[in-house]
Amino acid sequence: MRNPFFFVMCQPAVNGANGLSCTASCKCSGERNYRVGFIERNIMHPNKFVSIARRKIHLAAAFLLLSSWFAVGPAGAQTWKSHLSADEPEALYRHYCSSCHGAKGDGKGLGDFVLEPPPKNFTSKETRQELSRAHMIEVLNKGTRKKGKRTGMIAFKDNLSPQQIESVVDYVIVTFMDGKLAPKAQVHAGHDHSAETVKTVDYPYGLTPNASRGQSIYSASCQSCHGEKGDGRGSPAQMGSINPRSFRDADFVKSVSGFSLFSAVSRGPGHMPVGQQILPNQDIADVSEYVLRTYSKPRPPQP
Ligand code: HEC
Ligand code: HEC
Repeated sequence: MRNPFFFVMCQPAVNGANGLSCTASCKCSGERNYRVGFIERNIMHPNKFVSIARRKIHLAAAFLLLSSWFAVGPAGAQTWKSHLSADEPEALYRHYCSSCHGAKGDGKGLGDFVLEPPPKNFTSKETRQELSRAHMIEVLNKGTRKKGKRTGMIAFKDNLSPQQIESVVDYVIVTFMDGKLAPKAQVHAGHDHSAETVKTVDYPYGLTPNASRGQSIYSASCQSCHGEKGDGRGSPAQMGSINPRSFRDADFVKSVSGFSLFSAVSRGPGHMPVGQQILPNQDIADVSEYVLRTYSKPRPPQP
């Protein structure tokens, strides 16, 4: 059987360019070691576990985190390297965030046992009301502080490029926060909002939607349930026990955005019944824009 720690130690470098290097105990013939270096530099740094006084707990925490990284290792070991690009926000999340924030974004990663304050639960209503995209980007760049001391939420600026930071933030919003964001001007206690200048975006992952392409995707994949008029009255044969959403509902219209539509459609299978095939991101953006312009927020007719 493979020694787990040997395995962890010899995980190939994921992002060799980030300057994390092999530790003295690494036996992997000079290969840079991402995980151990990351934990040593960021997690075990004495200031990072501020509210945990005793060293013993530092070590326990480091072991827990190490083993959580190990836990995602074997299955994904071969794929991490090739998948880790700005186009793979899910891989970025799993690699850099899930050990603390949990695979489901509910803050129930292993870091939950040892960190005070605990990792954020992205799925709660409060979080949605509190976090804006710009603020999240700033958090990833700078980390957070409570009462002047660093928290477990470390800065990722040295490990992730600006594009990767935006991409993993979008992933969190789309996947765990229903695509719903706090108003951008909202002040967040104790934080400097200089990054509020970060551009606000309509769609995640830098996508530019094309509504007329979206129209044919709508006819082919959505209309049978959501109806030709977007009022949720599709063909009776398609109807299950839950009524399809009307995109014209006042309540829906109030909170809908391109981002929230993208989020709902990309999480499709959980929310919409029957065999929704997963569409490519570009198609999801296109059909979302079509729904938004045609049904939820129709543009005034051209004179
Ligand atoms: C070592 C554990 C750890 C890792 C890894 C981690 N976080 Fe956190 N994160 C935390 C903790 C702890 C908090 C709560 C800190 C606070 O309340 O200031 C937090 C808070 C946050 C917040 C909310 C900050 C606020 O102002 O309320 C965001 C957004 C966030 N994390 C995103 C991420 C993303 C995205 C990743 C991956 C790139 C990540 N975190 C990786 C521990 C972690
Ligand atoms: C087989 C029927 C069916 C098809 C096909 C279908 N939907 Fe839905 N959709 C539903 C139902 C039912 C709901 C309501 C689910 C709920 O309330 O949990 C729903 C909900 C939604 C919502 C609202 C989700 C929310 O969180 O409020 C959106 C947006 C949506 N669909 C978009 C689409 C788009 C775009 C397509 C085409 C790509 C599509 N749907 C295809 C049945 C369908």
